[in-house]
Amino acid sequence: MAQIGTDIEKAKALLESGELVAIPTETVYGLAGNALNPDAVAKIFSVKNRPSFDPLIIHTDSLEKVRKFTLDIPAPLDRLAAHFWPGPLTLLLPKKTIVPDLVTSGLDTVAVRIPQHTLTLRLLEALDFPLAAPSANPFGYISPTTAAHVQDQLGDKIPYILDGGPSQVGLESTIVGLENGEVTVYRLGGLEVAAIETIVGPVKIMAHSSSNPKSPGMLKSHYAPKASFVLGDLKTLVPMYQKSEMPFGILSFSRKFKDMPEQFQKQLSKKGDLAEAAKNLFAHMRALDSVDVSVILAELLPDDGLGKAINDRLKRAAAGED
Ligand code: TXA
Ligand code: MG
Repeated sequence: MAQIGTDIEKAKALLESGELVAIPTETVYGLAGNALNPDAVAKIFSVKNRPSFDPLIIHTDSLEKVRKFTLDIPAPLDRLAAHFWPGPLTLLLPKKTIVPDLVTSGLDTVAVRIPQHTLTLRLLEALDFPLAAPSANPFGYISPTTAAHVQDQLGDKIPYILDGGPSQVGLESTIVGLENGEVTVYRLGGLEVAAIETIVGPVKIMAHSSSNPKSPGMLKSHYAPKASFVLGDLKTLVPMYQKSEMPFGILSFSRKFKDMPEQFQKQLSKKGDLAEAAKNLFAHMRALDSVDVSVILAELLPDDGLGKAINDRLKRAAAGED
């Protein structure tokens, strides 16, 4: 099992020797290794069981450091960086050759992010290389939002998990790039599109195209729990499943169902708050997935602001069933 703690010096020493360390961020926990060391990067792919055509995000703590491994930052993306970093925003930037091809799967852009988390920012500050870090889950499963989630799934494969408490945003970063001069969103996430548009004007959303995805986070089955996941109107679905013999769980926005044991139903936000729902989403999906139900029934949330990113993850989870 991995050791869990808050020892930055220990995390730093392991990373400097080419080992992997799970790190907390405001979005989800990351599985981090030295981004400039191809052996460490290769280890990330093998621990996660991730196909090498799915590129990684590089994390660092300052714009000066970002400039060391990227070419000129296009003006609109530079403005987004100035407004939203540190924060749940990943920018696709033209890369310098110092970034190994394995990190970017051979693309000429590199995904970069400055995360908003005190402990991880202190670690990044202390390192003289950036960290490549995908979400710290096995490929295809739900992203982890606590140290315990990481321990459960990758604990026997890594030496250390830096514990920064539960992730405060709970959804992966919003991925933004520039395509034919247009600011383009490739993955909906913890930073709302409306916030981005206040800085750069209307943007193009490419997060739903599924053929030949530029960002494999767009693959539909990317967030699948083990139980099959059914999306629909809970008021209809719940009575239907209650009549069947099948053990099922319920993931609702705020509604609570009578005659259902507590451990089989989770409310994302009792007060109907989307930010709270985002923060709880993955932990609740995991909790329901671990109580031996064969089906999780869920409903879409209001399709607005963070609700769009939450609905995106719910739809992917539902598409994951065979
Ligand atoms: O919030 C987050 O972004 C978390 C935390 C740990 O920072 N990280 C994360 O990483 O979600 P990951 O590997 O699970 O998702 C990264 C996504 C993938 O879908 C990948 O395809 C896309 O970023 N990506 C990375 N580099 C890219 C590039 N150069 N062009 C297009 N997409 C890229
Ligand atoms: Mg991921």
